[in-house]
Amino acid sequence: MTRVLITGITGFAGSHLADYLLEKTDLKIYGIKRWRSRTENIEHLMGKIEFYECDLRDASSVRDLIEVVRPDMIFHLAAQSFVPTSWSAPAESLETNIMGELNLFEAVKRTGIDPLIQIAGSSEEYGAVEEDEIPIKETTPLRPLSPYAVSKVGQDMLAYQYFKSYGMRIVRTRGFNHTGPRRPPVFVCSDFAKQIADIERGVKHPIVEVGNLKAVRDFTDVRDMVRGYWLALARGTPGEVYNICSGVGRRIGDVLSTLISIGNVEVDIEVDKRKLRPSDVPRLIGDSTKLKTATGWQPTIPFEETLENILNFWRESN
Ligand code: GDD
Repeated sequence: MTRVLITGITGFAGSHLADYLLEKTDLKIYGIKRWRSRTENIEHLMGKIEFYECDLRDASSVRDLIEVVRPDMIFHLAAQSFVPTSWSAPAESLETNIMGELNLFEAVKRTGIDPLIQIAGSSEEYGAVEEDEIPIKETTPLRPLSPYAVSKVGQDMLAYQYFKSYGMRIVRTRGFNHTGPRRPPVFVCSDFAKQIADIERGVKHPIVEVGNLKAVRDFTDVRDMVRGYWLALARGTPGEVYNICSGVGRRIGDVLSTLISIGNVEVDIEVDKRKLRPSDVPRLIGDSTKLKTATGWQPTIPFEETLENILNFWRESN
């Protein structure tokens, strides 16, 4: 049995990755959680996965974990992942994301095992892309526009350096926006969908509060995204970096219109200034040719279906 460790398994992408990997019969899955982690995303995984208490910011805690689990593959998804939080708590974002990864690498190195390791980077790393750099390739310069994006560039470069310096078998992915059921409501599609579901059930005034509707993002269903993580690690080349994206740019205002058209209520739209960011990346549209060529990955779930799934998720949540 191949021993697979998922960090961030209690989160959105981590729990979907666990669902996907559990369909494979030759894997034994391990997950980590902190004593105060929320567990609603993993209740259905209890009994199928071995959980360990570990805080990635604590080097000794990570070393103990790696010595016990001795994984053959690691998917490193644990992170502070909400861009606005990185402005209100920049040090926390940098420490969680960069030091957490450093502790993981050092623990692996000291234990003397040689696992395949996936590092979940982000399209936010590209930041201020020029018009003629779209669609974004892996070779496009990194010009981060938020502390979160800087933390992801740090993770990306640290992974590159540990591959180069120590020959660790690390594959980096740069995931563009991904969404789906279980997405926390601070992120845009879930934020809008939850507001519409609340209006439908009469617990909110018929006003959807929004931020910057002009931004353009490239969305992939989370279930396609986690399959990309798996394929990148299982079939990709250590030391390489792969974009994971649909290649389609969507204006956030259009995403809102689609969600409103799926909903059953008339709503007004109001800009909430608190949702506007000091700098918002205007346009992120990616090119995933490298991943497709290396692994055969293709996105399969149409975006409209993803949005319907998200709205239904919030309709069914109390
Ligand atoms: N959250 C939110 N809420 N965003 C809004 C709103 C709103 O009401 N209105 C407009 N937006 C805009 C944001 O300004 C941003 O341009 C876009 O919608 C997407 O926002 P988020 O869903 O918060 O995601 P993100 O693009 O900042 O970051 C996500 O994608 C990255 C990959 O590109 C996160 O998942 C990151 O962790 C991930 O790395």
